[in-house]
Amino acid sequence: MKLIWMSDPHFEAEGLVLGHDPRLRLQAAVDFIAKHHSDAAACLITGDLVETGTMQNYKALKGVLDGLPMRVLPMTGNHDDRAALRAVLPLPETAMPGFVQYRCDFGDLSVLCLDTLIPGAAAGVLCAEGMGWLKAELDALNGRPAIVAMHHPPMMLGLPMLDPDNLRNGDALLALLAGHPNVLHLMAGHVHRPCSGTAGGIPFTTAKSVLYQAPPPCPDWDWSSFRPAAEAPALTVLEDSPGGLTLQQCQFCDYGLGAPAA
Ligand SMILES: [Fe+2]
Repeated sequence: MKLIWMSDPHFEAEGLVLGHDPRLRLQAAVDFIAKHHSDAAACLITGDLVETGTMQNYKALKGVLDGLPMRVLPMTGNHDDRAALRAVLPLPETAMPGFVQYRCDFGDLSVLCLDTLIPGAAAGVLCAEGMGWLKAELDALNGRPAIVAMHHPPMMLGLPMLDPDNLRNGDALLALLAGHPNVLHLMAGHVHRPCSGTAGGIPFTTAKSVLYQAPPPCPDWDWSSFRPAAEAPALTVLEDSPGGLTLQQCQFCDYGLGAPAA
């Protein structure tokens, strides 16, 4: 079973985002997926679907995503508007009322997509209602395998400019997950950096953005000197087999496509 994972497209119906063209880059990702991975069961997008959470942007985004030959599983990021997202993009019938949080089953593997948006804040939280939902879902799985996907990483990543805006109650989430060894992997967006490791014993990966990348932590940078790194965007192909999971990062276009002129 194969899943596609995209993150942080920061789509806009018009204009550029930090000098990058979100329409060119998302279209390139969609074309790549349609050409090479049309057999995937779904495409997860871990938040920051749009740069500005307007209905116009979500409708234009849907117009591009409709070119994918598989269902889309959207999540909220800090740039998203929960109500506008829900109004435009269909969610699985398991979705919590009023949230973008749900379970999607692929054979024996369940994907648990979490809603960590705090309106108006860059950081995220899994609210008490969302945490309760997750515990109930994990308990109901009764040991069957699951992966957890979300926007805000619940762990420190050694990224001084980005770690302060991760999941505010990450320790509580990781403690809950640690009690469920059937959680095979945790996937997060938000940092626009490819990181992997373990947190509380749980393997995790964070994704590059479909649009622009944050610089690596060394050499030092701060927000006054911030410029996106001149790195090509990427998406991830996740494959589930009896032997385990693999996550392959795939570059889908050259850096120059939709990037600022050097
Ligand atoms: Fe983002």
